[in-house]
Amino acid sequence: MSEENRELAGPDLTKGISTSDLAEGGVISGHVVREAVVLARSGGSLFATGAECTHYHGPLSEGALVGDTVRCPWHHACFSLRTGEALRPPALNPVSCWRVEERDGRIYIREKLKPAARPARAAAQAGPESIVIIGGGAAGNAAAEMLRREGYAGPVTMLSADDAAPYDRPNLSKDYLAGNAPEEWIPLRSPDFYADQGIELKLAARVVALDTNAHEVRLAGGSGLRYGALLLATGAVPVRLDIPGSDLPHIHYLRTLADSRALVAAAAAHRAVVLGASFIGLEVAASLRARGVEVHVVAPETHPMERVLGREVGDLVRKVHEEHGVVFHLGTTPASFDRSHVALQSEERLDADFVVVGVGVRPETALAEQAGIAVERGVTVDAYLETSIPGIWAAGDIARWPDRLTREKIRVEHWVVAERQGQTAARNMLGARERFDAVPFFWTQQHDLGLCYVGHAEKWDRVEIDGNLAAKDCTVTYREGGRKLAVVTIGRDHDSLAAEIELEKMIAAGT
Ligand SMILES: Cc1cc2nc3c(=O)[nH]c(=O)nc-3n(C[C@H](O)[C@H](O)[C@H](O)COP(=O)(O)OP(=O)(O)OC[C@H]3O[C@@H](n4cnc5c(N)ncnc54)[C@H](O)[C@@H]3O)c2cc1C
Ligand code: FES
Repeated sequence: MSEENRELAGPDLTKGISTSDLAEGGVISGHVVREAVVLARSGGSLFATGAECTHYHGPLSEGALVGDTVRCPWHHACFSLRTGEALRPPALNPVSCWRVEERDGRIYIREKLKPAARPARAAAQAGPESIVIIGGGAAGNAAAEMLRREGYAGPVTMLSADDAAPYDRPNLSKDYLAGNAPEEWIPLRSPDFYADQGIELKLAARVVALDTNAHEVRLAGGSGLRYGALLLATGAVPVRLDIPGSDLPHIHYLRTLADSRALVAAAAAHRAVVLGASFIGLEVAASLRARGVEVHVVAPETHPMERVLGREVGDLVRKVHEEHGVVFHLGTTPASFDRSHVALQSEERLDADFVVVGVGVRPETALAEQAGIAVERGVTVDAYLETSIPGIWAAGDIARWPDRLTREKIRVEHWVVAERQGQTAARNMLGARERFDAVPFFWTQQHDLGLCYVGHAEKWDRVEIDGNLAAKDCTVTYREGGRKLAVVTIGRDHDSLAAEIELEKMIAAGT
């Protein structure tokens, strides 16, 4: 439907609503000319912003107001209600804002406000002489963008081993693979964005060595590049199988856009075996089913996802997949492959036109190790995301940071965490001295099951389920020693935001 003909919900807010219709903490959806707008009263002030999140169009009217910000219910992006700025990923673009007037017992939305230029961070002017970012994924891209948003005017170079400009990696196992998202949705930015921002993006540029004394990175091919400050954002790579037949061409892994394209091509066949009941393996299983491929999932555990989500949620995940025709072979692992079969340790032999391996990833720490940077199951960083070598920072899947919620050093593989870390590292490279204190968040989508996870629990001694798991309407809380560590929600986006806010308060209070 064209923009002009679209039915817009709620009142025409230029005509005003009664003051009594909008209490403190309230939100009203309406429209201004042909644009959907939300009007909110928070902290005693009135605000009007665009109604849709700039990530995947989540409805901000169903989000959470926190002071002068609004959080998206879908993947927890956060926008300033005053300026529209995208304060937290996964949104990268601002929302529009309008001037609001309250007069004679009525509230009116007036003209759209011009995007406010954010004041440059004073230290940004005197920041490092140049900044090099190794990695063009979630963390690297978010860092490069934040350096410019903060007013850093020096050279920024982003080196990526990938031959594609930064893209929406989570989509590669979801709508893109399922055939519901065209490829033009996948890049995070338009082709000219980086040049416009003065960010030198070098693709297919693999860094092979760091010289931390000379402040230089060496690229495959032999060229070198000096840096004033350096961000390591090399992410993770899939763990590869080493069993007979594992180098056959129909054995696939999924990390890059090229990998996902290859899977789309492979999905023209009839029968797939997915190895591993990880998030990626199960998302792939769901997307391949959406393409009509027959899917068998093989995994060593007896309850999928039990280690991350507990048995109850894991069993629901399994049930949803089985309802969509996925066949599980649990408690076993592959022994060998030939061109059309997977032989299992359990002695079953599965037909397979192609195989997708999703047995986990390992952080890409080789450069850091070679350079003598402290590495312990990830690159060790302090609360400010700086590594053991001053002036070198790390963010995203490679970084293990001191987490104040679990009181442990943790490393996670979440898109939003990587982006937030990239942004924090960027600000700290410019002297902000900001702790990375964000509550981890991730989401997954498998068939009609959408699940949000906030916090982090590698172990727990109590699981509380509120609601109805089978009806996909529940909140699951994971506690250790009575302390709330993580919350999973299914069909309850508002509870997920509430849990995030509660965990943030616990961190701030040091409880
Ligand atoms: C298919 C898939 C689906 C996912 N879905 C979700 C999801 O739904 N929700 C969620 O929270 N998370 C999801 N994730 C995880 C999420 O994508 C990662 O946590 C996130 O991408 C990590 O960001 P990063 O910047 O650390 O690493 P990456 O995004 O992996 O980027 C690393 C970058 O470093 C580059 N690089 C590596 N080594 C070098 C080198 N030596 N020289 C130069 N460049 C180098 C790579 O080419 C790449 O550009 C998914 C991951 C995959 C693969
Ligand atoms: S749609 Fe708003 S954060 Fe994703």
